[in-house]
Formats: sequence, structure tokens, C-alpha cells
Amino acid sequence: MAQLIDGNAMAAVIRQEIATQITQRLEGDFAAPGLNLLLVGDDPASEVYVRFKAKDCAAVGISSTITRLPATASLADVTAIVEAWNADPAVHGILVQMPLPSHIDEIAVIRTIDPRKDVDGFHPANVGNLMIGVEGFIPCTPLGVLEMLKRSNIDPSGAHAVVVGRSNIVGKPLAMLLAQKRPQGNATVTICHTGTRNLAEITSSADILIAAVGRAGIITEQHVRRDSVVIDVGINRVLQEDGTSRLVGDVDFAAVEPLVRAITPVPGGVGPMTRAMLLRNTVWSAERLQV
Ligand SMILES: NC(=O)c1ccc[n+]([C@@H]2O[C@H](COP(=O)([O-])OP(=O)(O)OC[C@H]3O[C@@H](n4cnc5c(N)ncnc54)[C@H](OP(=O)(O)O)[C@@H]3O)[C@@H](O)[C@H]2O)c1
Repeated sequence: MAQLIDGNAMAAVIRQEIATQITQRLEGDFAAPGLNLLLVGDDPASEVYVRFKAKDCAAVGISSTITRLPATASLADVTAIVEAWNADPAVHGILVQMPLPSHIDEIAVIRTIDPRKDVDGFHPANVGNLMIGVEGFIPCTPLGVLEMLKRSNIDPSGAHAVVVGRSNIVGKPLAMLLAQKRPQGNATVTICHTGTRNLAEITSSADILIAAVGRAGIITEQHVRRDSVVIDVGINRVLQEDGTSRLVGDVDFAAVEPLVRAITPVPGGVGPMTRAMLLRNTVWSAERLQV
């Protein structure tokens, strides 16, 4: 039976560590870390995500605010708010919930965020820092995956890591981090995507397989090597026969779990770690800005 990498349990420990760090910060007469969240429009999933983020902040002692703009807001409306937050020393982290309504240029908004407050790690300055191995904000999901590997004593050094998916928020940064010459990196990395021929042939040569695709059950027993480590980033809602729906990953868990050394569940795997890493990035931002 595979080792189950329990993201819920790990995230709970990390939240506790962060809460302690914030208490010490307050005892040192520094302000509580502050995260400002901007939600544009009324996408129900985004509404839920933003509320979860604010709730997570409250649980560890980060002060957060949610600002809402209507779906009709302009790029100028959004950037005006971001610029005000850039200038506000009580704001350590700025998060603009994506996706934005289609008439707003997301990259233009991201470019407006002060890179020192870009806790999502999406600003080109932070993307560049990650690429060249310089300290900066790392996007929460890739950071969460590295932390899961570390806390599970899985060292990517020398391993063949295969990342399926090349998005800017998950696949690409994760592949780059795993390839860096540094602790929790130093792997030989292959990136797969829709243009990949013989997906199963490549993934089944992985020591560490990371699925960040968004296709329920795309990774089956044919795609994995015996005794490998499988990290399932995917979150997919599937309809069941009784008309209800449930969340599943990209990995066919029942088929793959008996073959591998360690695996993350969905839900309860990478998701909670992603949420915990947003808190970590916010505290780190406050520490760096030292206000
Ligand atoms: N657990 C978390 O905290 C967390 C956080 C973020 C995202 N997610 C989930 O992770 C999944 C991926 O998210 P994302 O934002 O990276 O998605 P995305 O932007 O849609 O990217 C998906 C990637 O998968 C590749 N892909 C799609 N179908 C494929 C196939 N049949 N074979 C091989 N590659 C294929 C795509 O290739 P092309 O580039 O060729 O199109 C693309 O690079 C989603 O389920 C999302 O909900 C989870």
C-alpha cells in the first residue's frame, strides 16, 4: 500500500507554525501581516476561493480585507485599487483573484502589483527571479508541492521528475523549481502537454510524477512506474450517477495507488497546501518589508 501524503494534516501543522510566527511578530511590536484581496465580478468559484483565503488568514492572525468590484469594472478601476495598496504600508500582500472578466487584461493587472507584495508570485519580476534561482515569491501551488515532498522526506535530487501540464501558475514554475540546482530541486525534469507523443511511455519512466492537467483520471495504471511518487494537482468536478458531483484529481487513484510508493489524495492533497503557502508568502512579505 502506498504512503498517503496527507495535505490536510501537513497544512494544519504549517498553519500552526505560521500562527506562532505571527504571535512572535506581534510581541516584537510589528503589525499583523496584511493581505488585501480583490474580487472582480461574480464568478461563484472565485467568490468561494476568496472567502476561503480570508478565513485562512483569520485563523492564523493575518489581517485581510476583501474588496469587490462589479464585472463591468474597467482595467483603470482595478489598477487604481492595486496602486493604492502598493502605496499602503499596512498592506503586505496583494492578491487579485483570477480569472478576471475577459475585457480586463490580466497581465496588465499583474504588472501593476508591486513585486514585493505579489504573494501569488505571478508578476514577471518574480517569474524571472524563479527562473534564475534568485529569492522572490514562488506561486503557491508549486511551493506547496515542494513543501509536501520535503515534509514527506522525498528528495527530488537525481530523480526523473515528469510534470504533466505547462501552465504559468503550476506546470512551468514547478518544472523549473524541480530542475534548479538547490535543495528540493536537482531533478532531471520532463514537461508533458497536449503536444506530447507517447504520454504513458514518458510518465511511466518517472520517479516523481506530477499531474497538473485538469482532466479527471487521465493518469492511469499504464502511466506510472511501480514504486514511484505521484503528486496529483488536478481538481475536477465529476457528475455521479445519482446526479450529485464530487471532486477528483487527474489520477485514477484506485488504479494507481496500489502500484506506487507514495501518492496525494484529492481532495486533501495539494489543495490545502496551496492555501497554506499563500499564508506563508504573506508572512514572508511582511518580514521582508519589516513594517
Ligand atoms: N490543488 C491546487 O491547489 C490547484 C491549484 C491550481 C490548479 N489546480 C488544478 O490543476 C489542474 C491544472 O491547472 P492549470 O491551471 O495548470 O490548468 P491549465 O492552465 O488548463 O493547464 C493544463 C495543462 O495540461 C495540459 N494538458 C491538457 N490536456 C492534456 C492531455 N490530454 N495530455 C497532456 N497534457 C494535457 C495542457 O497542455 P497545453 O499547454 O498543450 O494546452 C496544459 O499545459 C486543474 O485541475 C486545476 O483545477 C489545482
